Amino acid sequence: MSGFNPNASEWKPSAAAAEWTPGGFTAPAPAPTPAPLAAAESTASDIDESDPLWQLVLNKICNGDRDRALKMINNPDSLAEYPEVEALLTSIAESMNEDDWEKEGDQLAGKLEESMVIDDVAKTAPPPVAMEEEEEEAAPVVEAVEGDPREHFNLVFIGHVDAGKSTLSGNILYLTDNVDKRTIEKYEREAKELNRESWFLAFIMDTNEEERSKGITVEVGRATFQTDAHRYSILDAPGHKNYVPNMIMGASQADVGVLVISARKGEFESGFDKGGQTREHALLAKTLGVSYLVVVINKMDEPTVQWKKERFDECVSKLKPFLKGCGFTIKREVKFMPISGLNGANVKDEVDPKVCPWWKDCYKNGDNNTDKPTLMGLLDSLELKGRDADAPVRIPVLDRYSDRGTIAMGKVESGTIRPGMKVTVMPTRQKYKVDGLWSEETPLASARPGENILVKLSGAGMEDIQKGFVICTDPPCRSVDKMICQIMVMDLPEHAKVLTAGFQAIFHAHCAEEEATVTKIFETTDKKGKVHKGAAFANVGMRVVCMIEVARTVPLEAFDDYPFLGRFTLRTEGKTCAIGVIKKLPPKKDD
Ligand code: GTP
Ligand code: MG
Repeated sequence: MSGFNPNASEWKPSAAAAEWTPGGFTAPAPAPTPAPLAAAESTASDIDESDPLWQLVLNKICNGDRDRALKMINNPDSLAEYPEVEALLTSIAESMNEDDWEKEGDQLAGKLEESMVIDDVAKTAPPPVAMEEEEEEAAPVVEAVEGDPREHFNLVFIGHVDAGKSTLSGNILYLTDNVDKRTIEKYEREAKELNRESWFLAFIMDTNEEERSKGITVEVGRATFQTDAHRYSILDAPGHKNYVPNMIMGASQADVGVLVISARKGEFESGFDKGGQTREHALLAKTLGVSYLVVVINKMDEPTVQWKKERFDECVSKLKPFLKGCGFTIKREVKFMPISGLNGANVKDEVDPKVCPWWKDCYKNGDNNTDKPTLMGLLDSLELKGRDADAPVRIPVLDRYSDRGTIAMGKVESGTIRPGMKVTVMPTRQKYKVDGLWSEETPLASARPGENILVKLSGAGMEDIQKGFVICTDPPCRSVDKMICQIMVMDLPEHAKVLTAGFQAIFHAHCAEEEATVTKIFETTDKKGKVHKGAAFANVGMRVVCMIEVARTVPLEAFDDYPFLGRFTLRTEGKTCAIGVIKKLPPKKDD
């Protein structure tokens, strides 16, 4: 408050001042014999000149004119006739209203300050875009606090080596203005120098030297783009079978799988052969929990294909039964679309009908489970179910790094996380305060399911936060070393003809990896649906209810409670041997 005098409350009015009230002047008794000058002088001598009333009259009303002030005090009944008195009374009344308003403002500000303490990060959020109207300034702050309202989708691009995943990812970034023309031209030159001219779009995603010189993806490439409908993260998985564990990491975060299939003569066949990655990737994507699989039949421009409908239909009809076998509901979850990732046809803009006259009828009829002409239109039309922003927080840790504290990376699978929250990290049960949240470089005030975020945990060391740990709010997830599961046997290593108790493999669930042993088989169901209680072994293609034990405890949940923490794969010798879900965890005291 301006002009506040801390001593004001100690000020005591004189007897005369106390009687004076604005608008109701109770004057001292007038002198009995008014003898103008003499009387005035005698009255003046009685006056205590330090009296506030005197000072007020002398200074405020009479501008220091002593005689005029004496005249007023001697004839208080006439005071109302002086215009300066009226002006003073009005200004006193106004200033009192102002004081009341300031008090209210102080209370309001106090309340506002209290409410702002909760969300300190809001202050570090990017400044709102300047608005002309003062009132409108508040709106962008609210948005910055709660993040972009568009839903965030994680897309994993999967498929056999050289199917065109990186080229398609790179072209999407180019078509959505995330890469400029000059950079593309630079990549064209660099690709030419490496004798890999056609890989120039893949260079957008394949950034390290090994990837560029060999023309294969090794690490999962990450990038983001946006449309009016959604925000997207691309996870460009490696197709080569040596890098399947990297692909699993990418797929474990994904909401939508984009299965890239090369239609080129010979390439579709080798990708789909027994050793091809098409099968394994599709299977893993389903097991790891993608909600949709968008199958793009790529390289339609290629001279051996030339946008022929027969080739497209051939690929689709061969894929359908296989994808059904992986557990996808074709009609609801799988969509097929012909594209050229290289020249962009049907990626953002529809293919020229002169080049591909049959596509229009196809999508207009809703054949292939889509009525959208382009890949991006199709992605924008998808709706994800089952994201629960009100459930307890679950963030499997994908990785972590040190930057003035330990920063964990991961995708929010459920719940809403905010700075200042207390979280429990499983399996260690250590508790931390969330010091900050970021999406790439942007500080966030909250993050909902689907967001890929960085979380700074107060006081956590690098060893306290590891890949495969889960950041939780109460009640935290379980942490177990054994579980009853239902698995499907997909493939077995050379030396093991059947799966028996004692079978060992690497257990992959969300971002966690651990050595595991099948310790007991309870029952098997063969391909004909016949159940064998207490069976001793299982063959490829059988469903098995079994006990699995892991070498160290892993944060997990039963599939029915939290599907994203309850599904897993068993891999050994470079093969996915089984996919499974957790049916039952040990009673809680074992945690
Ligand atoms: P990995 O990451 O190693 O599994 O390969 P990838 O699936 O990412 O394939 P990439 O994008 O590196 O492309 C492999 C080759 O296929 C490159 O020579 C591309 O130019 C070519 N290619 C990709 N898409 C198309 C397409 O739509 N048409 C044609 N003609 N060639 C394509
Ligand atoms: Mg690639």
